[in-house]
Amino acid sequence: MINQETPEGIMAASIALRGADGIWMVNGPPNLDPKAEFSKEGSPACKVMTFSQDGQRMAWCNGTCTVIVNTAADYKTITEIDKGKINCMTFSPKGTILALWENYTVNQTTNQGNPNLHLYDATSGDLLKSLIQKKQSNWDPKWTDDEGIACRNVNNELHFFEGNNFETIKTKLHLQKVSLFSLASSGPPYTVAGYVPGSKGQPSFVRIFRYPNFGGPQAALANKSFFKADDVQMKWNKAGTALLVLTSTEASDQSYYGDQGLHFLSTNGESNLVSLAKNGPIYHIEWSPKSTEFVVVYGFMPAKVTLFNMKTEPIFDFGTGPRNVAYFSPHGNHILYYLMTIKLLCLAGFGNLRGNLEFWDPKSRKLIAQTQSPDSTSFEWCPDGQHVLTATTAPRLRVANGYRVWHYSGNCLKQVLIDKGRELWEARWQPGSFSEPVIRTHNLPSAGNTSSAPAPEGKVGAYRPPQARGTSASIKLHEYEAPSDPNKKAEDPNKPVSKNKKKRDAKKAKAAQEGAQSHDAPVSAPSATPVPVSSAPAMGSTGNVETDKRIRNLRKKLQQIEKLKEQKASGKQLELNQMEKLKTEESLLKELAELEIS
Ligand SMILES: *[C@@H]1O[C@H](CO)[C@@H](O)[C@H](O)[C@H]1NC(C)=O
Ligand SMILES: *[C@@H]1O[C@H](CO)[C@@H](O)[C@H](O)[C@H]1NC(C)=O
Ligand SMILES: *[C@@H]1O[C@H](CO)[C@@H](O)[C@H](O)[C@H]1NC(C)=O
Ligand SMILES: *[C@@H]1O[C@H](CO)[C@@H](O)[C@H](O)[C@H]1NC(C)=O
Repeated sequence: MINQETPEGIMAASIALRGADGIWMVNGPPNLDPKAEFSKEGSPACKVMTFSQDGQRMAWCNGTCTVIVNTAADYKTITEIDKGKINCMTFSPKGTILALWENYTVNQTTNQGNPNLHLYDATSGDLLKSLIQKKQSNWDPKWTDDEGIACRNVNNELHFFEGNNFETIKTKLHLQKVSLFSLASSGPPYTVAGYVPGSKGQPSFVRIFRYPNFGGPQAALANKSFFKADDVQMKWNKAGTALLVLTSTEASDQSYYGDQGLHFLSTNGESNLVSLAKNGPIYHIEWSPKSTEFVVVYGFMPAKVTLFNMKTEPIFDFGTGPRNVAYFSPHGNHILYYLMTIKLLCLAGFGNLRGNLEFWDPKSRKLIAQTQSPDSTSFEWCPDGQHVLTATTAPRLRVANGYRVWHYSGNCLKQVLIDKGRELWEARWQPGSFSEPVIRTHNLPSAGNTSSAPAPEGKVGAYRPPQARGTSASIKLHEYEAPSDPNKKAEDPNKPVSKNKKKRDAKKAKAAQEGAQSHDAPVSAPSATPVPVSSAPAMGSTGNVETDKRIRNLRKKLQQIEKLKEQKASGKQLELNQMEKLKTEESLLKELAELEIS
């Protein structure tokens, strides 16, 4: 048994800790005593540790060798590998292979690179294959969850392997210089996205392919190109049906945070830009474990958090607050993930946001509890879906290192401070399978010993947005936007209009024209900005529905820009977001020209 029943019938997950004193484990929660079965690793040079996804194996490098321990049963060493200078390690999804990465070096005599990425059989400890992998970033092969295929980016081409046979490259994907890829974890069928950065005025693009059908651009399931991107982040949903692409440019004089864009692509060929209701950086994007919704944390502080559906329509707005991350609670390994109910969503603010923690019930859209975990540098949901672990670790913070275990009721169950002068480097849960928790949103259980909890430093409202610091303008505290359902509230004229809303408005306008009363439209405040029924001029078709849609969209945006230019010329003071819109004209025209030629 990995886990023990607690008196409340809750399975307890254990916590692994790594620091200047080595590696040790504690039971958790409610009693965070040392885990008796685990023999403490005493080396002060443990640079890395990791668990397999099922939590049944654990590995670390102690400066002398790499150890694999059976964390499913007896906590005894399974094998020791003669590798003492490992910087990164990861198990393949089913725990079959342990991949290790050490610094790249060159043999001085032969001037040849030494293979530095090693793949070991995680049970026998046998070396399966060593490869050269110069860079540390994206060093590890990516596997699908079933380990059916694995993929590596080797000098801007993608190499695919099947059945954990790394001796043979089964197939390759060439796109001119793929700088990044993202393999969906689902399948078969397997799906992969590649990103090619733009050069010499050419746009950057992301294309989605179904493995192994890589026959040229026509084979792509979906395409998306964009002009402004120095960096991209790609996130697949668990089902492998849709991909979010966050593009960013480097900071410049004009834009402190750089420009960012969030794009949505689906394997059925759709692609579009996700419109966000507030200007500023995009801090975090996260798919719900159900795969049918995603959440975005964005906008100048206090940040907005919005839940979107697969049509990229906003379905719930969590208002504004001091947060920069959003994490859904885990649900174990459901096969029919789209049938699960999302249990909890934690919105949190780390860094200079004082460790704000908000626990939400995404179903009833209610804030269950709010508290603070000051100076936190890491956050992780417990696999039981009810607790979270926050930690203060070096090198980010060298003082007051330690960790805290929280219940979603906002109660701190335990705070452990590491002795003065000692360092904690990492704190994490042992993964495991748990039955779905019953979440209570009221009459919450009072926590065990809360006397050890840190006293929250006043109200979270004490946070001041960075723009307000050092200015004389005093910001009214508690001036946060309340949560809202974007489909119910009165329309904000500056807010992007959803497709459904447009349809409803069109319907209403039509009904009004005919002098009839529309009965099926939901009761809502009249729209401040009536949308014309159909003002799109007739135009030629490119023969591709998606392209036509994009062209219409671009033309509409350019029309809006024309109007703004007129307003500006007539002396009207434009809003910040309107000014931002004007700046996009050039790239819109460029994209339009491209599309109309193709
Ligand atoms: C690996 O390289 C990094 C950066 O060059 C260096 O800081 C580190 O000490 C090296 N690690 C080992 C084990 O040589
Ligand atoms: C460098 O390569 C030579 C020839 O293959 C080999 O004999 C030697 O052991 C290598 N040196 C190191 C430090 O690996
Ligand atoms: C992707 O782009 C290529 C070339 O521009 C085109 O041939 C292909 O049909 C596009 N695929 C989709 C799904 O739009
Ligand atoms: C509760 O916390 C206090 C303060 O940290 C500690 O002294 C005490 O031993 C704890 N009690 C229990 C039952 O854990």
